[in-house]
Amino acid sequence: MLNGGMGKSVQKWIACCLILGNIKTLTMAATIARSDTNLTSVLWAHAVNSQKLLDEALAGKIDMIEADIVLGTLENDTSGQQIPVMGHPPANVSDITLETFLTKILDYNTLNPDRQKGVKLDFKSTVVYEGSIGILNSLWKRMTYPVWLNADILPGPVNPTSIPVDANFFLSASKNFSSAVLSVGWTTQWGPSFSEGAYNRSHVDAMIGAIQGNNITGSKHEITFPVRAGIAAQSLSELQRLYSSLNGTNKLTLTIWSSAGDRVDIEKLRELIFDFGVDKVYLDVPEEVSSKLDLGRNGASSLWPSLLKFSFMNLAMFFVTQILSTRN
Ligand SMILES: *[C@@H]1O[C@H](CO)[C@@H](O)[C@H](O)[C@H]1NC(C)=O
Ligand SMILES: *[C@@H]1O[C@H](CO)[C@@H](O)[C@H](O)[C@H]1NC(C)=O
Ligand SMILES: *[C@@H]1O[C@H](CO)[C@@H](O)[C@H](O)[C@H]1NC(C)=O
Ligand SMILES: *[C@@H]1O[C@H](CO)[C@@H](O)[C@H](O)[C@H]1NC(C)=O
Ligand SMILES: *[C@@H]1O[C@H](CO)[C@@H](O)[C@H](O)[C@H]1NC(C)=O
Ligand SMILES: *[C@@H]1O[C@H](CO)[C@@H](O)[C@H](O)[C@H]1NC(C)=O
Ligand SMILES: *[C@@H]1O[C@H](CO)[C@@H](O)[C@H](O)[C@H]1NC(C)=O
Repeated sequence: MLNGGMGKSVQKWIACCLILGNIKTLTMAATIARSDTNLTSVLWAHAVNSQKLLDEALAGKIDMIEADIVLGTLENDTSGQQIPVMGHPPANVSDITLETFLTKILDYNTLNPDRQKGVKLDFKSTVVYEGSIGILNSLWKRMTYPVWLNADILPGPVNPTSIPVDANFFLSASKNFSSAVLSVGWTTQWGPSFSEGAYNRSHVDAMIGAIQGNNITGSKHEITFPVRAGIAAQSLSELQRLYSSLNGTNKLTLTIWSSAGDRVDIEKLRELIFDFGVDKVYLDVPEEVSSKLDLGRNGASSLWPSLLKFSFMNLAMFFVTQILSTRN
């Protein structure tokens, strides 16, 4: 037996459910797009090593700006003074210094607090990192958005020729930047014609040793391991071991990157991404790789329970709001 009042509220409840059907779908879409739960949806601008590319990245829809730093000279500067400039080896001349690069991002983020971009700085040598510390120190307190300090600090697969940044120097100097994400990887050699190669036990042991030896386990820095897609796809068990060895002390993620034309076993890479979970993997790869990965296709099980919880919370909130508003 329903009295008139209750009948009305039942009607309201039904109407509410019909609206909620749609709201729930929208809420889910919004949550999936949120980068803190699905790190693979973070958008990267890669190798932003010139004024023009920086302007484009700042104007674009990307979330993270990745750039390389070498010791070199500013173009048109005849003094020959060697300073940290934006560029990828073998380049040693640039139209933008590290200081200008960082200042431009700082200015942009100050003017656009709702569209701030993070920055990943890839230091290409020990000397350029040493020469950059003063610049970082002078801007650090004002850079309140994500700043990643990246270097290849150990020799990796497959017999790479480039010289790693000194691991102890990089880690001990980076410790001073307590809010930094430390992005530490291995030098690599890979390409279209490579098929054999993996991050092996020795590579992983050396990384764990460097991090523990420099007490990054004590400083509690967030760490991301940049791993090259084609090689990482063939290294699942060692990367799992790396993760579980340090997960107790530091927040950890992987950043999967790839060079244009690199050979990548897409199915194995998918397996790796879903094994770690999309909440632990950043994906900075060319479109040719990301489109083939097709991460929306099944296998996304790990996130659904929390997404459902989130949308039911919103559903409940919506009810509370409705009830409160009908009372007045
Ligand atoms: C810069 O690179 C050019 C070309 O590779 C090389 O000839 C030159 O010596 C380099 N300059 C410095 C200061 O390393
Ligand atoms: C260097 O000189 C050229 C030609 O005058 C100019 O277009 C360019 O903007 C200058 N580069 C820098 C970094 O000032
Ligand atoms: C791992 O690979 C390196 C070459 O990159 C090699 O020197 C080392 O012996 C390998 N370690 C193992 C355990 O296979
Ligand atoms: C780190 O900070 C300490 C204390 O502020 C300072 O003495 C040291 O020189 C810094 N290290 C580097 C590499 O800047
Ligand atoms: C490691 O760092 C933590 C935090 O700074 C400190 O409390 C601890 O004493 C350090 N341990 C060693 C062995 O240096
Ligand atoms: C990582 O560590 C956290 C906290 O210590 C724990 O809750 C989580 O289950 C661990 N994850 C894995 C994959 O080991
Ligand atoms: C994560 O983001 C990727 C890239 O935007 C998307 O394809 C995928 O469907 C998302 N997965 C989940 C579980 O949200």
